[in-house]
Amino acid sequence: MKQDHQKHIAIFASGKGSNAQAIIDYFKGNESIKVALIVTNNKTAGVIQIAKENRIPFDIVSPKELKDEEMLDMLDVYEIDLIVLAGFLLLIPAFLIQAYPDKIINIHPALLPKHGGKGMYGKHVHEAVLSNKDAETGITIHYVNEHYDEGAYITQIGCHVEPGDNVEALAAKVQKLEHEHYPQEIEKLLS
Ligand code: GRF
Repeated sequence: MKQDHQKHIAIFASGKGSNAQAIIDYFKGNESIKVALIVTNNKTAGVIQIAKENRIPFDIVSPKELKDEEMLDMLDVYEIDLIVLAGFLLLIPAFLIQAYPDKIINIHPALLPKHGGKGMYGKHVHEAVLSNKDAETGITIHYVNEHYDEGAYITQIGCHVEPGDNVEALAAKVQKLEHEHYPQEIEKLLS
């Protein structure tokens, strides 16, 4: 049961979960905002270990289960106010978007509308930045709609692509921005 003033976050993640970890760490001890649930579609995702270590309930959903309206019951049980996608690779179904208007957000490791869309995740994004010879990359935090990476922007933060940067260097720079800014933007949205 949550207190009246408390806001609950559900993090949806498919992979390592470094953003999930950054968000959990940021809100540790916060009485107003709590990570109440982790949802993944990948039973080997690192984020499951993170959930266990932090004693956060988690659920592993199949693509079919994600599309089932029973998802709403689970989100209700945990009294979720905001769904935070952090490297979640499945498309969010329309009924969830309708049930949580402007309450589902995503982070993308590039300056959208560049290098977004289905299949543009992880190193694929940074490879595209390099092959495009972009002078700048960064992060986009945005609302989620029915299309990959197309919802309205909440904020974008850029960083320079330096001569000699490779995929790993870009990934490290961008991830640093993600870990710093995603928790702060979540806090702003919930305050
Ligand atoms: C992040 O780069 C995020 O921008 C993207 O997926 C990646 C997830 O990484 N949407 P992690 O699992 O949080 O480490």
